[in-house]
Amino acid sequence: MTAAAVKPAATRAPSVEQIRANFPALDRVHGGHKVAYFDGPGGTQVPTSVVDAMRDYLLHHNANSHWAYPTSLETDVVIDAARAAAADFLNAAPNEVVFGANMTTLTFSLSRALARTLREGDEIIVTELDHHANVAPWTRLAAECGVVIRTARMDPASGTLDWASLEQQFGPRTKLLAIGASSNALGTITDVARATALAHAHGAQIFVDAVAYAPHALIDVRALDCDFLACSVFKFYGPHAGILYGRHELLAELDVAKLAPAPAQAPDRWETGTLNFEALAGTTAAIDFLSSLGDKSVAGGSRRDRLASAYHTLHERSVMLLEQLWNGLASIRGVQLYGPPPSDGPRAPTVAFTVNGVDSRVVATRLAAEQGVFAPNGNFYAATAAERMGVSASGWLRAGCACYTTADEVERLVGGVRAISA
Ligand SMILES: Cc1ncc(COP(=O)(O)O)c(C=O)c1O
Repeated sequence: MTAAAVKPAATRAPSVEQIRANFPALDRVHGGHKVAYFDGPGGTQVPTSVVDAMRDYLLHHNANSHWAYPTSLETDVVIDAARAAAADFLNAAPNEVVFGANMTTLTFSLSRALARTLREGDEIIVTELDHHANVAPWTRLAAECGVVIRTARMDPASGTLDWASLEQQFGPRTKLLAIGASSNALGTITDVARATALAHAHGAQIFVDAVAYAPHALIDVRALDCDFLACSVFKFYGPHAGILYGRHELLAELDVAKLAPAPAQAPDRWETGTLNFEALAGTTAAIDFLSSLGDKSVAGGSRRDRLASAYHTLHERSVMLLEQLWNGLASIRGVQLYGPPPSDGPRAPTVAFTVNGVDSRVVATRLAAEQGVFAPNGNFYAATAAERMGVSASGWLRAGCACYTTADEVERLVGGVRAISA
């Protein structure tokens, strides 16, 4: 094949318009405009295939698990398929995947189980940059069992982790580092492999909050070498469900609260009560949807290969959208941007900003009414980072790009902010 006949990879992946055709929510009109959803970091829109899978499960296969008749056996297939899909998504083994209501709930159960291995005076490190779902489950243990919490500082000027401060927190009693892979508010990406090496060098385990990372970068628990990691399916085009990864031996050994007759083996022993089976059907469909967004030449490859290609394509597009968004907002007098600029290296396409003299809630309300732009305001539970950066009670505006975001939508958002700031 001649060089001219080889199409660039991007042209062999579905176009943004083709991707958008999967999302009925994008047809919604508000304020005279097609709605532009910049609220993905709080939860993305959901493609038809995910809803179809959930509907199909509930209408045709609904039963409890592990019984000897067809709908129950089909439910077991749904569970196994979701574990296999999540394992591909994380580069884990299916028996290292725990499903639950959401990341916060799973993290609380993990912190409770780990607490039973800790002694008074043992230390856990958290960071100022993190969402409080990766803070409270650990700080709670200080009150409950005398664990000492040490907090690594962030640098408020850059919105990044202060690595020197992190290193200072380690000591002979450090048992766990709880760290985020990406800030849900600021888009900062933290080098988790580096953090893991630090934790392991000090004989500590590491728990990674990958909720804000998962929609933008392909997780690889083997490469990260982490002990535990959690993410939320509704941030990457799926239903409201959470996933916890744990090394199999840890999931098998830890003393987790469970009912005596419930399965004793991992990962099932972590899944208290009846799982949300329809959400598991949706989880598989969401991961399959994501894996369909890459270069068509890998269509015959493994799901992991297809996911890698999809993330590559999404990354290329999001870099352009992020630059357009960042530079557009930066050009508006009176707009303050927070977090690392795109020129500083990899970051998620999530931008936090304020408009001088205008309450962020008013900006959010006007963007919706005047431009059909849906973007939230608040601290997004990254409450310590918000405090360190001195944002007011109504917080930042947060605009996040997703696989369905277009350059025209970014332009509309920037234009709307420009009008409000004027
Ligand atoms: C970075 C981060 N961590 C944790 C959470 C909590 O996730 P969940 O709502 O699934 O408990 C969120 C939710 O927004 C988040 O963005």
